[in-house]
Amino acid sequence: MRPSLPVLVLAGALLMAGLGGSGTASAADAGKAKLLAGRSGCLKCHAEDKAKDGPAYREIAARYKGNAEARAKLIQHVTSGEKVKFADGHEEAHAIVKSTKAEDVANLVDWILSLDGGAAN
Ligand code: HEC
Repeated sequence: MRPSLPVLVLAGALLMAGLGGSGTASAADAGKAKLLAGRSGCLKCHAEDKAKDGPAYREIAARYKGNAEARAKLIQHVTSGEKVKFADGHEEAHAIVKSTKAEDVANLVDWILSLDGGAAN
């Protein structure tokens, strides 16, 4: 495997992290994000396009469209285990992303936020 690819991915993630919450992050690595979502058990409750126990990612993206706080808020959401309310009214601690790498978590959140609007992934 060539060493340059991970370095580029890392650089990209750091660059996006540096840009903060401004604009939509359409440069998210979708493949990597989906892999992490799968590995973290997120897809048991979420899908890109349809509601399961949790809202569709596309719906979340739509809800936060144009919100400059979205990125930081969602990173907090998927790393803190904060309480969430389910459709049946019960509450439990939300799942936590199974990665300790800030750039991987940010990439997953950027991918979710990119699902609103035209991004072709
Ligand atoms: C056991 C079911 C379940 C699992 C597993 C789960 N979620 Fe959720 N998630 C929910 C529910 C329910 C909500 C809605 C909370 C609300 O609207 O208050 C939610 C909301 C969210 C939101 C929106 C939060 C907000 O502030 O609007 C994001 C983003 C999210 N989940 C991402 C993830 C990721 C990433 C994972 C994997 C680490 C994951 N979820 C795993 C049930 C789940």
